[in-house]
Amino acid sequence: MRMYDIIRKKRDGGELTDAEIRWFLTEYVAERIPDYQAAALCMAIYFRGMTVEETASLTFAIRDSGERLDFSGINGLRVDKHSTGGVGDKTSLVVAPIVASLGVKVAKMSGRGLGHTGGTVDKLEAIPGFQTDLPIEQFERIVNEVGIAIVGQNATLAPADKLLYALRDVTATVDSLPLIVSSIMGKKLAADDDCIVLDVKTGSGSFMKTLARSRELAEWMVAIGKRAGKRMRALITDMDRPLGYAIGNSLEVVEAIETLQGRGPADLTELCVALASHMLSISDRGNYEVCEAKVKQAIANGDALRTFAEMVRAQGGDPQWILQPERFPKAKFSREVLAETDGYIAAVDTEGYGVASLMLGAGRNTKEDVIHSAAGILLKRKTGDPVKRGEVIAVLYAEEEARLAGASRRLLEATRITKEAPAASPLILDVVD
Ligand code: URA
Repeated sequence: MRMYDIIRKKRDGGELTDAEIRWFLTEYVAERIPDYQAAALCMAIYFRGMTVEETASLTFAIRDSGERLDFSGINGLRVDKHSTGGVGDKTSLVVAPIVASLGVKVAKMSGRGLGHTGGTVDKLEAIPGFQTDLPIEQFERIVNEVGIAIVGQNATLAPADKLLYALRDVTATVDSLPLIVSSIMGKKLAADDDCIVLDVKTGSGSFMKTLARSRELAEWMVAIGKRAGKRMRALITDMDRPLGYAIGNSLEVVEAIETLQGRGPADLTELCVALASHMLSISDRGNYEVCEAKVKQAIANGDALRTFAEMVRAQGGDPQWILQPERFPKAKFSREVLAETDGYIAAVDTEGYGVASLMLGAGRNTKEDVIHSAAGILLKRKTGDPVKRGEVIAVLYAEEEARLAGASRRLLEATRITKEAPAASPLILDVVD
């Protein structure tokens, strides 16, 4: 086979065969195909798209490009939850302990922040001592004993995705439906879970900006997961506003703890209860209503919070920080962002909020950047809230004072204030299964 012919076929709108897709990935991972040819193929896919068949082939080839995990040493059903990426999205820290406290195992491989979106591993590393890189035997032992462990994605898991993602990131080919489906599902299928609930984000803070595209993304991921023998469900949820009030790693851990204590923000609590209830119901724990009642009880009786603290202890962190979140230090510098006019917060560009948080030090601009755990944003007003000129709409936190001014400007640019109150919109837009 020749890479030139594969690129030309896709450029001209042809359908690639399973053999062609597998050959391309094998040769690319073995460094026998240069980046410029792989980039040309990604761009051809971006413009021409792929059929579900081609996307399934690409997904399974990514899954098979490295080690496939075997969790047969873990007793009982294993369920995972995966978000397509958002701003202020700390749901994994809340739903995973809830579900584990109710007896379904969570053996979770999570990612780091990507672009303007945050990542669970970066958030967990804000807890002093917490280890996100564990040998597989220890990971399995913790899941069996505590019911839950969360680690970073192993370097040998789906290496083709790492290469392709880095290439897409610099060639403007991230927001392509078949490339997103295969990237996310290739990694998910390389881990050995029985059930997967997807949180497909839609709107200004997500990679898919419209509901129609997000629904298509959800349907394709569910179909491909089912084809691989997994029990699948997807929620489509609003990312036209950040989730909760906290954006940034330790700020988000504290908000997740408050949610596990039953005093979290309404939107975050609503989504976490829904995700956890769907995770339980596809894992044979009863119908949705029964599972929802169990989830609310696990929050109210403290079982979910205790499970989180137990996981932190098992992974080398100090559980006292979970039980007394006031121990998390504040960043050295802070600045209030004030509303410039009277009115209502009509809309926010959520991606802009994510970028402002990145500018404060909560994310990376380059691979080498070091994250400042306490950096980020605490929102005081959200979409729909009334504001008066001069009122605080957000407080910014940074370890370096020079970061505050630019982030403040970015946040204001991303906030639209109007005289009229905006219409309320639902957080959970659809469920696909
Ligand atoms: N998350 C991923 O892992 N891959 C994508 O392509 C987009 C979001």
